[in-house]
Amino acid sequence: MLLLSKVWRDIVKVNKKQLTLTVNGEEHILLINPDDTLLNVLRNQLNLTGVKEGCNSGECGACVVFVGNKLVNSCLYIALEADGEELLTIEGLSQNGDMHPIQQSFIDAGAVQCGYCTPGMVLATKDLLDRNPEPQNEDIIETFNGHLCRCTGYVKVFDAIRLAKEYCENDKLEETI
Ligand code: FES
Ligand code: FES
Repeated sequence: MLLLSKVWRDIVKVNKKQLTLTVNGEEHILLINPDDTLLNVLRNQLNLTGVKEGCNSGECGACVVFVGNKLVNSCLYIALEADGEELLTIEGLSQNGDMHPIQQSFIDAGAVQCGYCTPGMVLATKDLLDRNPEPQNEDIIETFNGHLCRCTGYVKVFDAIRLAKEYCENDKLEETI
């Protein structure tokens, strides 16, 4: 029996693959199943539960994270494809305990209710403002097409994005003073 369980453990080990990720500035070397999704690895191996599991089919945007400078749905992303990459999740956004201006804008605009969609919304706002610091309404609508919120009715989320633009500008200004 003991021999059998050792053989089984060896089989499992053989099928595992090594994955190296730098997540929020910290390097991790992990053993994973070849078909594990990034969502599964981040939540279940690295305990980064700010990455939310919603639809699991690329529809709701609750699971988005940055791989390099690209925002991806981690529920559809095979983790091995991120080997060697730098990742940013919602946990890496605040610095030295201070909230990122985008996080603050969501709070100040009252755009956080149950909060389940919020990590995805905040990262999508960062992605939008990084690509386009002066987004028009249609840019915001296009970006948030892939993000579902059951609570806010989106009006406050849109207010938060406009406020985030302002806060990010002020933040940059303060850095230059
Ligand atoms: S959980 Fe990934 S898009 Fe919904
Ligand atoms: S705040 Fe509840 S789903 Fe968006």
